[in-house]
Amino acid sequence: MPALLPRAARLPGLASAVLVIAAVVASGPAPAGEPDPVRGKYLFAAAGCATCHTDKKGKGAPLAGGRKLKTPFGVFYSPNITPDPEYGIGKWSDRDFIRALRQGVAPDGRHYFPVFPYPSYTGITDRDLLDLKAYLFTRPPAKTANKPHDAVPPFGWRFLVPLWKALYFTPGPFRADPERSRQWNRGAYLVTALGHCGECHTPRDVLGGPLPGMALAGTTKGPEGGLIPNITPDKETGIGRWSDGDLQEILKSGMLPDGDFVGDVMGDVVDETTGRLKVADLKAIILYLRSVAPVFHRIERKKK
Ligand code: HEC
Ligand code: HEC
Repeated sequence: MPALLPRAARLPGLASAVLVIAAVVASGPAPAGEPDPVRGKYLFAAAGCATCHTDKKGKGAPLAGGRKLKTPFGVFYSPNITPDPEYGIGKWSDRDFIRALRQGVAPDGRHYFPVFPYPSYTGITDRDLLDLKAYLFTRPPAKTANKPHDAVPPFGWRFLVPLWKALYFTPGPFRADPERSRQWNRGAYLVTALGHCGECHTPRDVLGGPLPGMALAGTTKGPEGGLIPNITPDKETGIGRWSDGDLQEILKSGMLPDGDFVGDVMGDVVDETTGRLKVADLKAIILYLRSVAPVFHRIERKKK
């Protein structure tokens, strides 16, 4: 807009008045299409960015990274994603941000390790990514330096990541299925893209690629070495035995039908993510989960 103003000044009469009014409106409340940090805040919760990028245990500054992420492939540390220009992502353009989350590629061309769940976030739409970025850029900057990863060879070898991507990674935003309802599509988007539920709930092969035909079927080798239950609608080993009300309660408060609470990493997911979602979104998630292929795969829940 500022670039237009000198020209507007040169235009006579009505035309310049229209342009001046447009300029005034543009500096007022964000028009549709401008990134919206309030929407971004909700998406940020739905995507659970804080669960990894804030080192709660080490009392780190919010989003300043340094959280230790134990995986079967070694220990990774999340980086600083505050808007600090030196230590965080303050200098990033919108394009840099979209490329990082959609393609898993850094502004300098490095490929990210898939511990950063971009294989799911790739599904997030441009609009949602820009709102997310707008929200991140309202957060306080932190001068916290990134820690190097401590991964097991060859998983710490960044130059191998493109091979991994060639095997397992399909970039591209979520495409709604026109045969399905709006609510189903919303649920699919929340589960597969924003909520990245399969990053934990889908079992993996020895290279960390998702096992085909096993989406959301649970694993004994989850993050932090945890048991990750089967959340397919299988009646015996999945969530098929629970009512919609039971499932909504689990996602909202973490309380299981037997009165116990989910622990481990799912506790964080409930705190930071599903517990903050609107009821309509929880219902959409449940509708979608009920529609995926049931897989018989028994994962015993840890007794506490
Ligand atoms: C499961 C943990 C996890 C979650 C959830 C997560 N990240 Fe990350 N993120 C990482 C790790 C680990 C890296 C570093 C990857 C690497 O070094 O290759 C990373 C890297 C990044 C980077 C690149 C930073 C840089 O300096 O190059 C950005 C930006 C980012 N994440 C943003 C986000 C956003 C936005 C969300 C939520 C939509 C999010 N992350 C959710 C673990 C996570
Ligand atoms: C960071 C890893 C992680 C992510 C991401 C994650 N979960 Fe979980 N989830 C777990 C773990 C671990 C448990 C088991 C907790 C326990 O046994 O106390 C669990 C338990 C559950 C349960 C209870 C099932 C049972 O049999 O006890 C449901 C339902 C569930 N998750 C749904 C979801 C949905 C929906 C998403 C995406 C919005 C999601 N999870 C994302 C790790 C994760």
